[in-house]
Amino acid sequence: MPAYTAIDHAAAQSNTGGLVWPAEGWSRVPFELFTSPDIHEREDERLFRGPHWNYLGLEVEVPEPGDYTTCHVGATPVVLVRDEGGALRAFVNRCAHRGAEVVRRPRGNARGFTCIYHNWSYDRAGRVVGVPWEKGRGGVGGYDAAFDKAQHRMRPLRVASWAGVVFGTFSDDALPLEDYLGPAIRERLSAVFARPMTVTGYQRHTIRANWKLLYENSRDFYHAPQLHKFFGAFGIVQPDQAARAEMWHEGTHCLLTIYRSPEARKQRTKLEEPRVAAFRTALPDDIAISIVGIFPNCLFTLIGSAFSIRQFRPKAPDRFEVVYTYFTYADDPECLREHLFQNNQFGPAGYVAMEDAEVVEKLQARIALGAEKGASLVAMDGTDTTPERIDHMVSEANLRAMWKGYARFMGFAPPEPGGSAAGGERSPR
Ligand SMILES: [Fe+2]
Repeated sequence: MPAYTAIDHAAAQSNTGGLVWPAEGWSRVPFELFTSPDIHEREDERLFRGPHWNYLGLEVEVPEPGDYTTCHVGATPVVLVRDEGGALRAFVNRCAHRGAEVVRRPRGNARGFTCIYHNWSYDRAGRVVGVPWEKGRGGVGGYDAAFDKAQHRMRPLRVASWAGVVFGTFSDDALPLEDYLGPAIRERLSAVFARPMTVTGYQRHTIRANWKLLYENSRDFYHAPQLHKFFGAFGIVQPDQAARAEMWHEGTHCLLTIYRSPEARKQRTKLEEPRVAAFRTALPDDIAISIVGIFPNCLFTLIGSAFSIRQFRPKAPDRFEVVYTYFTYADDPECLREHLFQNNQFGPAGYVAMEDAEVVEKLQARIALGAEKGASLVAMDGTDTTPERIDHMVSEANLRAMWKGYARFMGFAPPEPGGSAAGGERSPR
């Protein structure tokens, strides 16, 4: 068992960040999780900088030595780069001298990197290779003999990849990446990335809500036919369609699969331009749609064959940025690509993602009402918390599993039946 699953609850109780989980259990999610600055900071420390792997990019984005791309791990700006030997490197984008941003373009190719402030220069691994006036100038100044620039560098992250997807971690205690991802997600990523991919573009936008509301939303089967009327009306997803959720990493990862169904293809609404809702999937095994949530920072949306990755960048308790990377198969004909982008469901203006962004902003606005502390109710399909798999859409069991795992990783004490409740319909404050 990984070391971090052995939570010492006695110790956790003494450092719960002040949070008391509602006594009703994991079927209640205290609104404080979405508004508290303390919890926001604690997430950066325990989740993003803790023993978890964060998505950094795709190998196809950095194929050649010197290719780099930038991202964020929680609040921390990170550069992913391929070095001259072909190895992937990642480091914090902060000068070891005074702390300035060093890499200023979002992506490119470079022999090395130079800070604009005092021109300290770095190699592709983020090690200091040049310090102006290191030995002084004109016989004066300079660093003393004890100064060794080899002792200075931009902070590295551990890097590992699976099926061409690159992850990084600040922690020495993170599991090997393969174990971290688990068998089901490994298999899905391997199947999707079995053919050569090409990145087709990027988008980013800010959502005025807590990042966990969207992370939770991505595994929430229950809302899909209710909120996204588009799905049913245009015959993309029906609630009785075969579906499965498989959990891993204490319930915080979720592999969501919706299978193809001839029934679902019936369009109830006739369109003048039916190609807008035409649907083609390139996924194997009769899979129509797959959403892969890899805790804590990314979602893979595998739909059709125009895929996207959403990377989460929390900026405040009530604000986060979503960075989209779109990719598709390199050998897809251009006309198909064009069609898939017209069949636009994700991205800031996608029919589906736009509704999700809108609804989590509406949640945030109400959750933040200070005088109305409470909790959300996640009790569909019982109150159990640790299913490894559910085989239908009429459930919130995978949400409960996620919240339980999240609470463990955050060091929050588990709910105590009969204890003081922070919210829920039975304990309004
Ligand atoms: Fe949604």
